[in-house]
Amino acid sequence: MVDITGERMADVLVAGGLVQAVGQSIDPPAGATVLDAAGCIVAPGLVDLHTHLRQPGREEAETVETGSRAAALGGYTAVVAMPNTEPALDSAAAVREVLELGMSVLCDVRVAGAITVGRLGKDLAPMGEMADLGVRLFTDDGDGVQDARLMRRAMEYASALGVTLAQHCEDKVLAAGGHMHEGEWSSRLGLPGQPAEAEELMVARDITLARLTGGRVHFLHLSTAGSVAMVRAAKAEGLAVTAEAAPHHFTLTDAAVASYETNFKVNPPLRTDADVAAVKAGLADGTIDAIATDHAPHAAEDKEVPFDQARPGMLGLETALALALTELDLPIAGVLALLSWNPARIAGIESAHGGPVAEGRPANLCVIDPAATWVVDAGALASRARNTPYAGRKLTGRVHHTLLRGEPVVIDGAATR
Ligand code: DOR
Repeated sequence: MVDITGERMADVLVAGGLVQAVGQSIDPPAGATVLDAAGCIVAPGLVDLHTHLRQPGREEAETVETGSRAAALGGYTAVVAMPNTEPALDSAAAVREVLELGMSVLCDVRVAGAITVGRLGKDLAPMGEMADLGVRLFTDDGDGVQDARLMRRAMEYASALGVTLAQHCEDKVLAAGGHMHEGEWSSRLGLPGQPAEAEELMVARDITLARLTGGRVHFLHLSTAGSVAMVRAAKAEGLAVTAEAAPHHFTLTDAAVASYETNFKVNPPLRTDADVAAVKAGLADGTIDAIATDHAPHAAEDKEVPFDQARPGMLGLETALALALTELDLPIAGVLALLSWNPARIAGIESAHGGPVAEGRPANLCVIDPAATWVVDAGALASRARNTPYAGRKLTGRVHHTLLRGEPVVIDGAATR
């Protein structure tokens, strides 16, 4: 077993939604379901800070239910649903609708609210009424808040509410028209690029605003070496900043776009080898607190088009853990910190997820076989969409079982409902 307190060999007894006992050789009570975890690691369930569930509005790509099944199969017991739905989640009524859809699905669904009305970057959304429903993260993800004055006011409002702003860092004017990273590959392929500086300008601005306001900022899907360096310096200064990186930004580079395969189109775009190395270094030294999937399902008609017309985004929930175990040179506890207890703390849900596997705690758990190898089969994914760039890739590390509030929602790698 591996959790925030360390590693040990133990059996875990679960009943009534809670961990009842942890210890050597527990005799199962009569009638108990016994899940085999031989050779596996029992861990707190994973927590995704960045999931697009697409409901309401784009149910042809994903629903809360199908996304939750993909999450459970990936070892997640909680996800934060992004608000760039249609319409956007920018009011208590809209947030409540998604929370209700999430009540009976295969993982705990928390919601990030929009910072601005309609995510249009003009007027602040009623963050207070959404915070009253338990919303702890606010973001216009898909777009960054372009107006520095509005972002300052949002930080002041968020500070007063005790919530965190999560920024999609992209200077829209500088990035305009770019379909991939601007560099050697965009020149060779003749595709317009967006420079690393389009991300870095907003990281720099928001660090400056965090210093001005004392507000908490979480940087979404950081992808460039410059961004990582700035967040490292901001943390050293003591500012209240946290950051995440997506699996594709430490496993793929812009060279993949040479295939013109639209599953490699994502925003922020795949970057260079040097950026990948910097993201990995940031994950290793704690500059980047969490791995977040940016699970972005798209319907076939939005991907089976020329590269410049395709929507950006790729699936993530069912491959994130295995990509981290396969590609990061970190101990298992380090990988789980990035996927479970650190994101749980940033999402403000550490009382239910990511905590120690201990008596009296909610039984939100996953059981991982760290040595199992498997090949990603796009057709076998539980997501309603198919846009994974990893089809055919051999990975090491697989989720065996996932328990949500004590209920086995995944057994032996298959969803139970
Ligand atoms: O690639 C992306 N897809 N990046 C985003 O910021 C938004 C996301 C989406 O919603 O599809």
